[in-house]
Amino acid sequence: MKKPIHQIDYLDKTKHDKKLLDLFQLIFDHVLDKLDKREDYVLSLTLVNSEEQRELNDKYRQINRPTDVLTFPYEQDYDESPIDLGSIIICPEIAKKQAKEFNHPFERELAFLFIHGLLHIFGYDHIKEKDAEVMYDLQNTLLNTLPYDFYTDLTKMKKMLKEAQSMSIAPYSKFRVGAVVLTKDLKYHLGFNIENASYPATVCAERVALFSTYAQGYKKDDIISLGCITDSKNVGTCCGVCRQVMSELMPSHAPVYIFSSGFKDMLKTTVCELLPFAFTSEDLTK
Ligand code: THU
Repeated sequence: MKKPIHQIDYLDKTKHDKKLLDLFQLIFDHVLDKLDKREDYVLSLTLVNSEEQRELNDKYRQINRPTDVLTFPYEQDYDESPIDLGSIIICPEIAKKQAKEFNHPFERELAFLFIHGLLHIFGYDHIKEKDAEVMYDLQNTLLNTLPYDFYTDLTKMKKMLKEAQSMSIAPYSKFRVGAVVLTKDLKYHLGFNIENASYPATVCAERVALFSTYAQGYKKDDIISLGCITDSKNVGTCCGVCRQVMSELMPSHAPVYIFSSGFKDMLKTTVCELLPFAFTSEDLTK
């Protein structure tokens, strides 16, 4: 099957990082996929400074102040292909300020604004309370399922994993496993396998890291990602029990980084990929 066209006509008047286009493209693909938009599309995306954004806001909305994102849906002729969606104009200067206020990364704020703009393009709005609820719900889902990790610093995670693995208590198997859970406050929580002479009493590193995180009062939505390293030459080693626990204690789209021995290989996956069709509390209802 032919791959659909998802074209962004990108103009960065602020000379921000060129790599941002890769992020915008990933978001565009993700949103079109989740909204089940299967046609060919083209969208104009411009990054402007706050003065230009103020002028545009004044001209088109009669609001004489800069704003984070402006959206201009195009009244398209549906016979045309690719379909012209119109244009989105984002002000990175304001995104930066807002990111600081909300204490999250700049790219996370840009992603939020772009998703917000795209939803407007597809007819969602937040004027009436009921519509706003639908739009904000969808916006959160799209952001939370985005296959992009705004938070995990892999260099830091590897350093913490090394430390965690060195603490492994594995006198019986001699198989050392380290795990690290990253929470939204950017703290890394360590875990390692703890074995017992009564073998089934052994607890895996991933569960020790997760239980220790919970024991400090963190909850499911505080968790960003999990990493683990083993002595195996293979990646993808999390056991079935840990997958079950991860699926209940972590957000389902949270990234999981699994390293082989000595960090030679890495598998980047997600909780829901590791355990599709997981048994959940909902399944307990008769
Ligand atoms: N182990 C883990 O810590 N995590 C896994 O996901 C797989 C297995 C530990 C348990 C035991 O101490 C050793 O590895 C051998 O099974």
